[in-house]
Amino acid sequence: MSHLELPAIDADLCVACNECIGVCPDRILETGVEGDIVVRDEQCMLCGHCQAVCPVEAIAIPALTSHLGLQTIDEEQVSGLPGVSTAALLQVMRARRSCRLFTNDPVELSLLADLVKIGTTAPSGTNSQGWQFVILPKRADVKRLGEATAAFYRDLNKKAANPLYRLISRLVAGKSLSNYYKKYYVTIKQGIDDWDTHGVDRLFHGASAAIVVAADQSASCPAEDSLLATQNILLAAQSMGLGTCLIGFVVEAAKRDKRIPTLLQLGDNEHIYSVIACGYSAVTYKRAAGRRVVTPIIIT
Ligand SMILES: Cc1cc2nc3c(=O)[nH]c(=O)nc-3n(C[C@H](O)[C@H](O)[C@H](O)COP(=O)(O)O)c2cc1C
Repeated sequence: MSHLELPAIDADLCVACNECIGVCPDRILETGVEGDIVVRDEQCMLCGHCQAVCPVEAIAIPALTSHLGLQTIDEEQVSGLPGVSTAALLQVMRARRSCRLFTNDPVELSLLADLVKIGTTAPSGTNSQGWQFVILPKRADVKRLGEATAAFYRDLNKKAANPLYRLISRLVAGKSLSNYYKKYYVTIKQGIDDWDTHGVDRLFHGASAAIVVAADQSASCPAEDSLLATQNILLAAQSMGLGTCLIGFVVEAAKRDKRIPTLLQLGDNEHIYSVIACGYSAVTYKRAAGRRVVTPIIIT
């Protein structure tokens, strides 16, 4: 690891409280012979915890910034705040709905760009932060992604509708095509027909914008990282007054049809983990939707 990337400790400021040593997950900080803090030249995951815990701001990590560079939020107002009440947080969480009825209003690019940055405050495996985001602020581009997805499903439906193809596929690749035929064929056919004949968008629900969350396959936990960033985006969007909906059909299509990641300008090693339709909701919910009762196992 380059010396420039390691935490740098200002010995004049450091009060040797050792708090940084206590929080370092990589154990690269230790007490030197003179009671000072020594940084060992070893792998640092740049988690920034040492810098965050230091009471006298004696630690610099040039590779990191605590400023997200948001355009729509004054970060000075949020930095240093201890947090929101659980009740306020729960209110946002419970109010978030999968929006399936959007207005035609476009979403400001500054909001979409901020959502992506807020997404990156999520945890990531070994702090790899290997995510990649694609912002589609224009309805025309959302439609283009919808068309590419529809092209994939048109082809899949054609294969699935053919009993001989299903039989061969079952022998060669197992039951997945037969299962698809049973579960999704009719719904997908209706969706494509609605789009072709009436221009009804059952895929993106008429959303004017979208955010695609992808991650580099060399990251330790690309799927988890992407989905955690995704949830941040969904909640932040809710708090901004935006509606969102995850579009899993695009994610599934993109796994099998390389034209979709190519259309989104993603590299060969970047896989798509979520596609978020985004826009202004045309529906106002009066109350939170219910949830099934959960019965956790409690180990006593
Ligand atoms: C992985 C995943 C994929 C989803 N894909 C779609 C989709 O393609 N289209 C859609 O309308 N909703 C999709 N949803 C939304 C779910 O149907 C929705 O989250 C669920 O019904 C609960 O409703 P709520 O989000 O309003 O709480 C998806 C959700 C998840 C978690």
